[in-house]
Amino acid sequence: MFWKAITLAALFARDTSAQVQGSADFLRFGCSQLVIERIDPLVTPGANPSPHTHQIMDPNTIDPPTQSTCTSCSYTEDTSNYWTASIYFQSPENGTFKRVPQMANGRLNGTLLEQEGGLTVYYMRPFSGSNKKTTVPKPGFRMLAGDPTLRSKTGNFANICHRCLQARDRVMGGSGAPCDSSDTASFPTKMCPGGIRATIIFPSCWDGKNLDSPDHKSHVAYAAGSALAGDKCPSTHPVRIPQVMYEIMFDTTQFNNPDYWKNGKQPFVYSFGDPTGYGAHADYLFGWKGDALQRAMDALGTSCASEDCTKVLKIQDGKDAIGCTKAQLAKEDVGSSTCYVTQIVKDESGCKVV
Ligand SMILES: *[C@@H]1O[C@H](CO)[C@@H](O)[C@H](O)[C@H]1NC(C)=O
Ligand SMILES: *[C@@H]1O[C@H](CO)[C@@H](O)[C@H](O)[C@H]1NC(C)=O
Repeated sequence: MFWKAITLAALFARDTSAQVQGSADFLRFGCSQLVIERIDPLVTPGANPSPHTHQIMDPNTIDPPTQSTCTSCSYTEDTSNYWTASIYFQSPENGTFKRVPQMANGRLNGTLLEQEGGLTVYYMRPFSGSNKKTTVPKPGFRMLAGDPTLRSKTGNFANICHRCLQARDRVMGGSGAPCDSSDTASFPTKMCPGGIRATIIFPSCWDGKNLDSPDHKSHVAYAAGSALAGDKCPSTHPVRIPQVMYEIMFDTTQFNNPDYWKNGKQPFVYSFGDPTGYGAHADYLFGWKGDALQRAMDALGTSCASEDCTKVLKIQDGKDAIGCTKAQLAKEDVGSSTCYVTQIVKDESGCKVV
């Protein structure tokens, strides 16, 4: 996504108290494929979603910085876990599935995300209000955005959405604010010449105490009225944390065949069995080393802005990030995007990878 200062300034122009600094209000970087497969670490829906079987992991046993030897993200001090679902095409002709390949988010091209399957991560501070301070959560903190059981629209603002990209947006990923009125909570209902960009905006307010909760959500909250961070958190969740957002680019163009879009039916299905898109969701597990993220957030507007935070954080070569990813993929086989399978399965060993 090409998210310019001018767009933000326009978006928040009515907020007279704010001197919106646009690109100084977030940190943005790429992570190559880390965990993208059918098993959701927080929700574990599988083929038969079982949202009531929740497991709170002992935060003391999950502290990525002490367990990771490398990271698939640009910044080496970030060993956080970013999880999201993959999308499959289901053939309306014979019911078989093919995983939809991902593509790079243009802005980061040449630095990291040439590898299929990356995602772009944002850490944002409030765009409005005078107090832009955010407090980084503690090791073991995790949260879930979205609800895998949803199959229709809910809520009064969009925190999760899909953008039907025009051909001209294919490289740069589209412009403007995320989850605007042209984006949809469902999958797009028509063929997208430039593919689909999925956006997941996490809550920005925390109760300040619990690292997790039984539904992985109630310890965090959105600021009133908007998915995007305002500067006011509810009294129940008074601690303003950096607002995390993911962008995932899906290259759906090989499925832009009118034969697959008959009777107004779109052909995509999320890996957890959702053919609507309303169930889109993502998990976040905090894993920054020491005070690295706090230093970066505090430096927004001075020595850090958007892609550029190398004065504060250590950056690694894209090759090294991708190398880390491959080691993890050996355990988490996502299957191939080159052939059709009869069901969405973790182990697609019957599928010959070209
Ligand atoms: C199923 O349909 C897809 C396209 O709709 C086609 O490419 C594929 O070869 C078909 N597979 C079988 C086994 O017929
Ligand atoms: C990204 O890299 C590819 C291959 O090197 C190139 O074809 C494409 O134009 C690049 N896109 C941008 C935005 O630089």
